Amino acid sequence: DTPHLVDRYGRRARDLRVSLTDRCNLRCTYCMPAEGLEWMPADDVLSDAELLRLVRVAVERLGVTEVRFTGGEPLLRKGIAELVRGTAALRPRPEISLTTNGIGFARRAGELADAGLDRVNISLDTLRDDVFRSLTRRPRHRDVLAGLEAARAAGLRPVKINAVLLRGINDGEAADLLAFALEHGYHLRFIEQMPLDAGHSWDRAEMVTAAEILDRLTERFTLLPHPAPRAGAPAELFDVAGWAVDGAAATVGVVGSVTRPFCGDCDRTRLTADGQVRSCLFSRTETDLRALLRGGAGDDELADAWRGAMWAKLPGHGIDDPSFLQPDRPMSAIGG
Ligand code: GTP
Ligand code: 5AD
Ligand code: SF4
Repeated sequence: DTPHLVDRYGRRARDLRVSLTDRCNLRCTYCMPAEGLEWMPADDVLSDAELLRLVRVAVERLGVTEVRFTGGEPLLRKGIAELVRGTAALRPRPEISLTTNGIGFARRAGELADAGLDRVNISLDTLRDDVFRSLTRRPRHRDVLAGLEAARAAGLRPVKINAVLLRGINDGEAADLLAFALEHGYHLRFIEQMPLDAGHSWDRAEMVTAAEILDRLTERFTLLPHPAPRAGAPAELFDVAGWAVDGAAATVGVVGSVTRPFCGDCDRTRLTADGQVRSCLFSRTETDLRALLRGGAGDDELADAWRGAMWAKLPGHGIDDPSFLQPDRPMSAIGG
């Protein structure tokens, strides 16, 4: 009986992604409809104490060393600073990161850094205010830019930008986004669009591929393979010749989930805001830790159930299989 989260393909999950809410204050067209989604019932959402208990079990008993808070939009969760503080108090202390759309982060960055947040990934798909407005259906471009600046000012390092390119909308901005990131000291990663949208309208033929993104970047920049091993990270990194960020070679990343899958090195386990463990973004089954927890289960029983969930992890996402089915939960309710 191994104490860690391992699966039958020899992978070990050290990286826990915790979704704090399925709600969001943007409505990105590739994610959710204008009217929003049917949100989780409040009673189903784990309380702060319940959530921290599960994070503690993962860290103390299952060998999780990195905890990332995601959403929906995690800053919409009232108790986020206390959740960060409680996570930072665990031993061995995990690395703590946040994936956010950046709205409202300018006001919270200092407080969250003080609570123990180590680093942040902020989504920014465009440099153009008008494109931002139509892509996210909200006029909040300036808030995101302010959030990025606040992240650096609060000393969070590295500050990463996540960008999804959509054909005919913002795919012409790849090199501009990189220039912006380099000038400001942010680490930019481009993400291939995955079939996880609530509307099930993902179309592989329309997707902007990793190869296309790299082609567009090399029109203006020289990219060299990044020397450090990738070690389970979803992003393939390149050094940008002639540029440095914080005294090291500047990098740009491409998360090629679809055309260059990294499932063989996956080191993730996921917890949804309603207390379900998912072994993969694309899992078709979940393990209900909330029911166990609310039924009075002890830490051993929770840890065993979590191990069982991960043992059943599939070898890959299967997007290329003819029988592929999108998971029932959309990205916004899984946490990305
Ligand atoms: P870092 O630790 O900073 O590298 O974080 P990250 O890139 O894992 O996290 P982030 O939340 O910023 O996610 C960036 C993109 O990678 C999002 O689109 C995620 O959905 C995607 N991503 C994260 N983990 C996985 C994964 O296990 N599989 C796949 N296919 N995509 C993932
Ligand atoms: N495919 C790839 N990335 C996505 N994101 C949201 N939906 C998708 C999708 N279907 C991105 C967000 C954010 C990151 C966490 O995931 O834009 O940057
Ligand atoms: Fe956009 Fe993320 Fe919100 Fe979806 S969850 S609408 S991708 S900011």
